[in-house]
Amino acid sequence: MKTFVIANWKMNPSSSAKAEFLFNSIKDGLENIEKLGKKTEIVICPPFPYLSIISNIYNPCLPSPEAKATGGQVKSNIKLGAQNCFWEDPPAGGGSFTGEISLLMLKDLGCKYVIIGHSERRMFLNETDRIINKKIRAVLAKRIEPILCVGENRKDKEQGKTQTVLRKQIENGLKRISKSDVKKIIFAYEPLWAIGSGRPCSPDEAQVIRLFFKKVISQKYFRSIADEINILYGGSVDSSNAKSFIEEAGFQGVLVGGSSLKPKEFIELVKNI
Ligand code: PGA
Repeated sequence: MKTFVIANWKMNPSSSAKAEFLFNSIKDGLENIEKLGKKTEIVICPPFPYLSIISNIYNPCLPSPEAKATGGQVKSNIKLGAQNCFWEDPPAGGGSFTGEISLLMLKDLGCKYVIIGHSERRMFLNETDRIINKKIRAVLAKRIEPILCVGENRKDKEQGKTQTVLRKQIENGLKRISKSDVKKIIFAYEPLWAIGSGRPCSPDEAQVIRLFFKKVISQKYFRSIADEINILYGGSVDSSNAKSFIEEAGFQGVLVGGSSLKPKEFIELVKNI
């Protein structure tokens, strides 16, 4: 199985020059990590305007000028991802969607992944499980890989509702998704109380939740499918704790916010896993 490190830049940095610098610093730093095996996938998810700039200077999912001659692609551990998408495909969808970004556009920019259902979108943009499910199905139909985020807030946790909340988010997110498609989804457990708090979930606690994800997926599909699913942890991951979520808690990787904006810290994080 692969190990994923997803860099969610959120609404950062504040200029395209800074975004280019951040990307290049990360890319150069990662290229110097010799032990970075083929099985580690680093996914950089910048805001949309920067995605287009970065895709122009570096796009591992589209043929490079040199590789074009042979039809090959750039071989790299670094891939591009988006932080969101819309589910319709104009004009076939029959409508106009001001301000939205289609999956065809993302595909054209070489995006291999899209983050769906991040808690900040659920919270501030009123994204419901129904919308998230629509997006997941649209992403799968375009052969892009969705990263489905779910997580409980502090109140849910304190009231002992963590598993009820997670089960609902997972089951609703997976409505009308086939057995073969569910395997293509990367799940991310991101407890809201851990995001940006500097206080991550403990690996022991996170491991219990990881096993709970497997249970919910086994119950909806098959045990064998649950065994193949990639589940990541996100919420205050840094270079000192990333490894514990993979080695101790058994996750297939981490989703990183704040630490992905500091090149040295991010490179150290990848080195340490
Ligand atoms: P954080 O963010 O690493 O800054 O806690 C993670 C996320 O929101 O995806």
